[in-house]
Amino acid sequence: MIAPVVCINSRRAMAKATRYLRPLIVERIAIVNKGVPESEQPNDFLQWLIQEAPNQPKVEQTVDALAMRLVITSFAALHTTAISMTNLVYDMAYLSSQAGPGEKTMMDVLREEVLTVLPYPHTFDKRTMQTLYKMDAFMKETLRLHLTGSIAFLRQARRPGGWTTSDGRLHFPQGALLALPNSGIAYDGDIYNEPEKHDFTRFYRGHLQEEGQDEKSESTTGTGRQLDRYIVTTSNEYLVFGHGRHAW
Ligand code: HEM
Repeated sequence: MIAPVVCINSRRAMAKATRYLRPLIVERIAIVNKGVPESEQPNDFLQWLIQEAPNQPKVEQTVDALAMRLVITSFAALHTTAISMTNLVYDMAYLSSQAGPGEKTMMDVLREEVLTVLPYPHTFDKRTMQTLYKMDAFMKETLRLHLTGSIAFLRQARRPGGWTTSDGRLHFPQGALLALPNSGIAYDGDIYNEPEKHDFTRFYRGHLQEEGQDEKSESTTGTGRQLDRYIVTTSNEYLVFGHGRHAW
């Protein structure tokens, strides 16, 4: 009953966003209605939403619903990256402050890598970025420690009759919500040695092993298993971006 009152500011903001987005959405819907082939339509998130809308319930095809989707996605994209970048700077500053006299600071280590891989005249491109292994591992470790949500993979069993896992061991009645314990896994000492410690080498080792530069077969995780490299690689042990079909 009180939800509409509590949410009044959000509803005002949503109405403002819809006013702003309406002309663009109307223009994009017209492109589809004119029968322009998909290959000649703009290739972006809004157009994908409009192309998919006819397969969804009628309510999803309105300008209001499409504007809402754009706002939700902007939220998903912006707050996660802003929080993560802030934590990254904090972690880098804190760890750098812990270096002993004459020791390289964390910032030195990362800066050195950037200068090593940057070609003259020092511009970043996709290939260069992909060789920043230490930076990648550092970011991956920051995201593991500062999760954007303590649960991941939130799903609802929607089908009548519910949903049973493929091994038949778990059944979820229709309407049941399920999620995976993101923080429980990220801080599990059986998966990550000293899980509370920020140690980018646990992921950096994965890069080295892949490149055949590291002789040691033992991983720093304590599981004896080489960790998947790259920040974007999800796994049963790294749910920061979720896992499975949607994350891929
Ligand atoms: C550090 C950055 C980010 C983190 C930690 C993060 C995390 C997540 C997580 C945990 C999910 C739920 C996955 C699932 O339930 O399967 C998700 C979904 C999603 N994220 Fe992100 N995200 C990040 C950045 C972004 C960015 C930059 C965008 C868009 C440009 C984005 C767009 C989305 C979308 C559209 C979904 C829904 C995907 C689906 O259900 O198919 N995210 N994100």
